[in-house]
Amino acid sequence: MTQPVKITVTGAAGNIAYSLLWRIAAGDVYGKDTPVDLALLEIPAAVEKAQGVAMELNDSALPLVNSITVTDDLKEAFENTSAAFLVGARPRSKGMERADLLEANGAIFTKQGKAINDYAARDVRVLVVGNPANTNALIAANNAPDLDNSQFNALMRLDHNRTLSQLALKTGKSTTDFTKVAVWGNHSASQFPDITYSNAEVDQDWYREEMIPKVAKRGAEIIEVRGSSSAASAASAAVDHMHDWIHGTEDWRTAAVPSDGSYGVDEGLICGFPTVSRNGQWEIVQGLELTDFQKERIEASVAELREERKAVADLL
Ligand code: NAD
Ligand code: LMR
Repeated sequence: MTQPVKITVTGAAGNIAYSLLWRIAAGDVYGKDTPVDLALLEIPAAVEKAQGVAMELNDSALPLVNSITVTDDLKEAFENTSAAFLVGARPRSKGMERADLLEANGAIFTKQGKAINDYAARDVRVLVVGNPANTNALIAANNAPDLDNSQFNALMRLDHNRTLSQLALKTGKSTTDFTKVAVWGNHSASQFPDITYSNAEVDQDWYREEMIPKVAKRGAEIIEVRGSSSAASAASAAVDHMHDWIHGTEDWRTAAVPSDGSYGVDEGLICGFPTVSRNGQWEIVQGLELTDFQKERIEASVAELREERKAVADLL
């Protein structure tokens, strides 16, 4: 057994956390030999509910859980934390776009960015899940000037997993059969699921006219059919992202990371890219030749990220 690692989950009384916390506690992020100190952050009105979640975690008698703290205090939640899942935020309901949440949710990430800056471990990894995730991550990173902005990611692994699942459903193969898949841009309807470099052999009309919109609008479809926004699949994707960030990857993954200016994406925007994780850091896959179709799709989503950045300029 190694030393316990502190992991913070915000929105701990919410739907995603109810799945995410058990996956973390099972060792699915750091590994089966690493005990965890769980910090559950909630707003005051939901602290009691989060305490109920903590009671259930205790009742699960999970061997890797070293301690559980439930709090509405940012310092207590983030002090010395190594990994922060920023989930706590309002979800959209039917008929809304994720960007409609900017006003309601943006301010959460200024405060949490500052607290992470002041109290978290210097090598903390921060994954923003709360929507609109890319721009919320931008807000958090900009409010943490003492940390490197590469320490702030947004969750687009769910879009990546949805792409793999559509390919698997279409071809009858397994999701693990496909390589070099990635989703560019914003976690929104403008995102670009890209299979140009993959080994998937599918009809191009199906890919462009059915698969891309299916994946890009899957969040809305889940809300329509399930009656509330995706929760277990989002938690699973968040675990996948943090696990791979820490442990590394061979094949491509989609991570929304601060752009270094690659592929014409403005430096600093938190954008989905084809990435690989090496030595604990995401690297944007370099040197890809883009077709006009790819360039147009990427540019459309990046234009939306620019607009969102403009809308929150006062929070940056
Ligand atoms: P939920 O409403 O069930 O839970 C959200 C929780 O966050 C609530 O318990 C609420 O009290 C808490 N909260 C609100 N403000 C907070 C704050 N300042 N500090 C700490 N906690 C706070 O919502 P959910 O279904 O768990 O979804 C959470 C967010 O994740 C939503 O914004 C949703 O749109 C987003 N989401 C993102 C993805 C993605 O792929 N990026 C996928 C699914 C959902
Ligand atoms: C998703 O993609 O399922 C989430 O971002 C929730 C939503 O609002 O679509």
